[in-house]
Amino acid sequence: QTFRIAAIPADGVGREVVAAGREVLDALASASKSASDFAFDWTEFDWGCDHYHRTGRMMAEDGLDRLKEFDAIYFGAVGWPSVPDHISLWGLRLAVCQGFDQWANVRPVRFLPGVTSPLRKAAEVPLDWVVVRENSEGEYAGLGGRNLAARGPGSEVAIQSSLFTEAGCERIIRYAFELAATRERKHVTSVTKSNAQQFGMVLWDDVFRRVAAEYPHIESDSCLVDAMAARFVLRPEDLSVVVASNLHADILSDLGSALAGSLGLAASANYNPERRFPSMFEPVHGSAPDIAGQGVANPIGAIGSAALMLGHLGLPAEAARVDRAIEATTAAGVLPRDLGGTASTQEITLAVIDSLG
Ligand code: NAI
Ligand code: MG
Repeated sequence: QTFRIAAIPADGVGREVVAAGREVLDALASASKSASDFAFDWTEFDWGCDHYHRTGRMMAEDGLDRLKEFDAIYFGAVGWPSVPDHISLWGLRLAVCQGFDQWANVRPVRFLPGVTSPLRKAAEVPLDWVVVRENSEGEYAGLGGRNLAARGPGSEVAIQSSLFTEAGCERIIRYAFELAATRERKHVTSVTKSNAQQFGMVLWDDVFRRVAAEYPHIESDSCLVDAMAARFVLRPEDLSVVVASNLHADILSDLGSALAGSLGLAASANYNPERRFPSMFEPVHGSAPDIAGQGVANPIGAIGSAALMLGHLGLPAEAARVDRAIEATTAAGVLPRDLGGTASTQEITLAVIDSLG
């Protein structure tokens, strides 16, 4: 079987880590034996901030139409100092996520062998979390405006509204319970700030209670986001699946990956669970302009995202092979700079390929 994959490396280290992930996937495909024969047919799109400077757009005008035909999208990161971040993010990454209704953003937090976590607990108990992020509405619904009622300099008012629909809350919460059902630790924690945000987040809490009642075999609890930030650090051992709104889960997943060792480790999948549109796989981190072009970016988040893509394409055994190869690489002490090592992007990529077994 040949899978058609759209690669969008975009900006900065996005290009370096997407190249790394492609190398791993191609090595995997060329080693695949008769029973599970598969290949990747890549199409690379040169969208991103350079494209914006050339054309005034982050992606081609018919970009979504062109992407629609692919089995999956493999994405790097957007953003460069020469373009305002809200333009680059909305013009490409959010355009794809929202245009293809990729409403479930799944971000596993993996504690890897050979990687020192700043979390003391990580040495004592096995930690393994998945952050499930509502990816279509909430605080990133794009509702609001500027210049409201401005009566001269210094009087501008801006409104940034959140959108919470019962259907939107229900589908992501249900997704979290279904995911928890497949995991060893069957536990879902819901995160809101419903004491201060008394409309949308109270609706979320109500839906959470109702859906939780349908899954009596799965433990659940709720936590306010500020307390949750502390709990990630102080009492993380009882966490398994953490479900939260677009903004809260964005922040908590960065915190989670930093606690696992580095932002460069974190993988993520933006699923359209109905499979009406392609899903998109990308590392959690951004374009890291401070280290871009130096060949030192950590490719593990991007390679882990490629593993999530394999799972989505119906190749779970191959996904597990890639995950084991990542573990073998870090366990052997082949670590990038952000994890205290000296290995380059290319050296880590080759080590992962060598460990595919
Ligand atoms: P960032 O994730 O790019 O970088 C934060 C810090 O983590 C930097 O010190 C960077 O060097 C380090 N880092 C990130 N990825 C790394 C990797 N693979 N290996 C080693 N170190 C790594 O976040 P920042 O600096 O806030 O944003 C930079 C640009 O990225 C901005 O334009 C922002 O809008 C964009 N961005 C894009 C995202 C996306 O496309 N999904 C997500 C987050 C930010
Ligand atoms: Mg983020």
